[in-house]
Amino acid sequence: MHVDGSVRVPGDKSITHRLLLLAAVARGTSHLGGALTSLDARSSARVLRQLGAEVSPLAAGRVVRVTGAGRFRQPSGTLHCGNSGTTARLLLGMLAAHRLHARLTGDRSLRRRPMRRVTAPLGLMGARFDLGPGDGLPLTIHGGRLRPLRHELPVSSAQVKSALLLAGALGGVEVAVREPDGRSRDHTERLLRWFGFGVTDGPDGWIHLAPGGRIAPFDLQVPGDPSSAAFLVGAAVLAEGGELRVTGVGVNPTRTGFLRVLARMGARVALEEARDEGGEPVADLRCTPASLRATTVDAGEIPSLIDEIPLLAVLAARARGTTTFHDVGELRVKESDRLSLIAENLRAVGLRAEARGDDLVVEGSEAVPRGRVRTAGDHRLAMAFAVLGTVPGAAIRVDDPRCADVSFPGFADALRAIRARRSR
Ligand code: S3P
Repeated sequence: MHVDGSVRVPGDKSITHRLLLLAAVARGTSHLGGALTSLDARSSARVLRQLGAEVSPLAAGRVVRVTGAGRFRQPSGTLHCGNSGTTARLLLGMLAAHRLHARLTGDRSLRRRPMRRVTAPLGLMGARFDLGPGDGLPLTIHGGRLRPLRHELPVSSAQVKSALLLAGALGGVEVAVREPDGRSRDHTERLLRWFGFGVTDGPDGWIHLAPGGRIAPFDLQVPGDPSSAAFLVGAAVLAEGGELRVTGVGVNPTRTGFLRVLARMGARVALEEARDEGGEPVADLRCTPASLRATTVDAGEIPSLIDEIPLLAVLAARARGTTTFHDVGELRVKESDRLSLIAENLRAVGLRAEARGDDLVVEGSEAVPRGRVRTAGDHRLAMAFAVLGTVPGAAIRVDDPRCADVSFPGFADALRAIRARRSR
């Protein structure tokens, strides 16, 4: 296909969750412009209402109003976090600092995702848990008075890091955390600094939170989600001609590892009109088609592109040479076992890829992809393979294209809209 024109993507999922959660514990009314209205964002809004916040309906194009009472109140029913790991894990951190008890659950995918990485350090801070037999939801948290924490995360994870920093901020205690490989997204640190907390990010890798800030009501604009933009950028890179502009995209360096990898692969994506919105860097992305070459993605880069691996893998399948993503075992515990499913689905459409231990190895090829893709309800797999389906002659059937609504409502329309008239 050829691409053409200019497109906006929905608001950033990570930032929307964080703003909803923080607004819910501010005393008064906050306004969120450009917030994501997807299923995941709705999961946060739903549980926050159960915890006493008023959250206006999440509808595209509308400012979201959140009125908080300064603290959560004891919820009556179970808090159902849907498919959203960010909702569950960040909320656990915040609940730890409240003298109440809450039972959390989620859909089948979320119930298989590990929670001990959050509950163990929160337990060291003083929270208590009624855990099930496994390592996941459902579970009940009993929060209360907290102790300071110094903790090395077993895996780099913005959700775990954020849960612990939020527990410290709300509980009024110091927290120091360190991630093993590379830096995960730092939206929580930026926001807590904005609320007056001392958050330092030392050269030794320790992130330190000092209490003393105050979460007051705010009006903030959510930038476009780079993880959603990545799919349209990928479609433009694979296109046969034209140029695409994706406007108002968050380009926080802890999120844009995929742009650095794409540059190594020979793709040209220019950042234009760079600006700052609510403490986050934002730019327009100008993308043109490219002939791609393989690359190697190292463990230290993974946290900055963790959600873009499905997309990068389908691009690698169209590149010259063999691409290896090192140490991506974490993909096994995402919304699906992404490590196995990326490889399995690339093979299902006639391409070559395999999981070798914790590495993902993708062989580039010019073969026309054809076949059926099994998403296991994973939004990012659905979108990545829809992008692969735009190459000439491709015939890819994604079993559940609608699951894209988890993070990118209107994805199929956006992918159609960027197609230049002459190639429709
Ligand atoms: C997120 C962190 C990442 C990412 C997820 C959103 C966040 O998860 O995959 O989509 O908003 O903090 P991990 O912290 O489990 O790596």
